[in-house]
Amino acid sequence: MTNVFKNDFEILHDDKYIYFDNAATTQRPRQVINAVSEFYRTINSNPLRGLYKWSVESTQAYENSRRKIAEFIGAKDASEIIFTRNSTESLNLIAYSWGLNNIKKGDNITVTILEHHSNLLPWQMVSKVTGASLTYIECSPDGEISDEEIISRIPSNTKLVSAAEVSNVLGVRLPIEKISKRAHKVGAVMVVDGAQSAPHIPIDVKALGADFFVFSGHKIMAPMGIGVLYGKSELLEAMPPFLHGGEMIESVSRYDAVYAPVPEKFEAGTVNAAGAVGLAAAIDYIKSIGFDTISQREENLCRLLIEGIKTIPYAEYYGSKSAETHSGIVTFNIEGCHPHDVASILDTENICIRAGQHCAQPLHEHLGIPASARASMYFYNDESEVERFIEALKKVRSWLGYEH
Ligand code: ALA
Repeated sequence: MTNVFKNDFEILHDDKYIYFDNAATTQRPRQVINAVSEFYRTINSNPLRGLYKWSVESTQAYENSRRKIAEFIGAKDASEIIFTRNSTESLNLIAYSWGLNNIKKGDNITVTILEHHSNLLPWQMVSKVTGASLTYIECSPDGEISDEEIISRIPSNTKLVSAAEVSNVLGVRLPIEKISKRAHKVGAVMVVDGAQSAPHIPIDVKALGADFFVFSGHKIMAPMGIGVLYGKSELLEAMPPFLHGGEMIESVSRYDAVYAPVPEKFEAGTVNAAGAVGLAAAIDYIKSIGFDTISQREENLCRLLIEGIKTIPYAEYYGSKSAETHSGIVTFNIEGCHPHDVASILDTENICIRAGQHCAQPLHEHLGIPASARASMYFYNDESEVERFIEALKKVRSWLGYEH
């Protein structure tokens, strides 16, 4: 192993597997695994409840993580950070708690055609329940969104706009600042899905113009089952709870309850303190690598991979022609080969990619393709892996019986 960026990732040490499915979930460095293990080995107890030392320490560890996340994304205060299971749960929390209570018939909700299902289905639900319209901002085949689209698809009756900062299929960054400016001009709330951006670029919720921002721990080297919802405090304070139960109350009588202030109001039940500690460790880790290094390495790998795909007859890739705007993601097809076959054939060479519609069926329909194969790389991947990947890709058509 010559790639020093793999040092902290035991699962990658023997160079046997080429892990190109980082947009689905990243690998975890030993620093994150150790932080989670240390929590369970030394202070494991139910936080926010006990008056004994371990419980006090686990509460402190949990709240320290909340502060670290607030600082990581530029939130005004730690109380604006709600821990959830993942981006999907965070988006559902907004839809059920804010959406159903603030959107009504005659209103409009705008999303983009590039969204992951997790940022579509909650808004379809709100639209169906309330009778509000659901409008799509369309994109070019490269994933570009024009200023005209932003203005025309966010009409004056829009109450909420929700958009991914980075597409999980094309890797392109959406013009969030322009979208949020238009959303605010018509008095709408702006939701930003950062599931695919937080692992790759610095986040500043104020600069983005995000009223809500969500991301998942597992895509940023933290454990599965921990996610984040950022919300502006004035919005969170006015919202009813999403889940009801223990630890989200001030007091309870037989037929009523007084809810705790934010963030506890939105964190019913035993929290995932070990996950939060792991997420804080992942943030420390990502900072130690640095977003400049991450971007440079991803860009270089995307450029090599795109150049390689161009040398393969019958192969085509989607999205921008510029490697700079792929966020480590190259989605492609090989003519005559179903993406599932492509993925299965690559698996015989220990190469891990995702194939199908990547939870973005409307985008595939918009691009005019039934499905695709997706290689998604992160900073710990390297050039030799891209070379092995391209060599394996060259064999796919002959595997399936084509002469060329
Ligand atoms: N959202 C993840 C992906 O795009 C699972 O692969």
